[in-house]
Amino acid sequence: TGKKAFIAGVADDQGFGWAIAKALAEAGAEISLGVWVPALNIFETSFRRGKFDESRKLSNGGMLDFAHIYPMDAVFDTPEDVPEEVRTNKRYAGAGAFTVSEIAERVKADVGNIDIVVHSLANGPEVHSLANGPEVTKPLLETSRKGYLAAMSASSYSFVSMMQRFGPIMNPGGAAISLTYIASEDVIPGYGGGMSSAKAALESDTKVLAYEAGRKYQVRVNTISAGPLGSRAAKAIGFIDDMIRYSYANAPVQKELAAQEVGNVAAFLVSPLASAITGHCCYVDNGLNIMGLAM
Ligand code: NAI
Repeated sequence: TGKKAFIAGVADDQGFGWAIAKALAEAGAEISLGVWVPALNIFETSFRRGKFDESRKLSNGGMLDFAHIYPMDAVFDTPEDVPEEVRTNKRYAGAGAFTVSEIAERVKADVGNIDIVVHSLANGPEVHSLANGPEVTKPLLETSRKGYLAAMSASSYSFVSMMQRFGPIMNPGGAAISLTYIASEDVIPGYGGGMSSAKAALESDTKVLAYEAGRKYQVRVNTISAGPLGSRAAKAIGFIDDMIRYSYANAPVQKELAAQEVGNVAAFLVSPLASAITGHCCYVDNGLNIMGLAM
């Protein structure tokens, strides 16, 4: 209650970011969002037109609301990093400040210090993505250097960048969380383009950042390894329905994963209830990760 959160990676009400926002709102936090620049317009329009009203409903009768909504592109750290073709692109031209450092400054100016940082974004195969290589659907063996580095940039370094910029404006006792996937450690054919590599980096960085930011800012850093969810990003990869079916058939807990189950664990991990948990990768996947031979 009374905590302030910044969540990067919400563009509709279907993904994990939204579910985390909802769980944090249920717990009384004030929430600001960083929405990917090309997705901002449609998100704000849909929000205004009431498209999300059903999923905005909170258990206390209130509605999920956002203190601030910022345009954001997590592959750029400073304005100097933004290439000409992005700066002048019609989706970016009117957006104002959207790089990680600028958003941290805007958050600091608008809401002051914050307690919670959420990273719920990944390199997507959307064709309109300018900076990201659309290679998520390619096997690693066919992934270009450019595509691989784009996956790392959007999905892994973006979290390092956020910790660099938001760490200094976090209150001691605060916490950060990201989302990862088991393809980092086990082979998931189809999770390509360097995304498996990017998740491995994200998980390793979770530990190093937990140490460094823990000492420097007295904040905790954890990641959630989530089971399959039919979000927009996952649908773009293409085999999410197979993954959901596979999980349903083979996990110890035989049910479909709800985004809210991940949201609730995220809210726990960033809360004082988890004050001694840091550098941890927490599976929220109906237990699928423990299975060796799936039967
Ligand atoms: P989603 O599509 O709801 O969220 C991804 C978000 O990232 C989107 O809102 C997109 O606009 C944003 N984004 C993409 N590039 C960006 C950039 N350069 N700057 C700022 N924002 C950017 O999909 P989902 O699945 O909820 O993804 C959230 C996280 O969960 C990701 O890290 C994903 O890898 C992870 N995850 C997803 C699983 C799934 O089955 N859906 C399973 C395990 C982890």
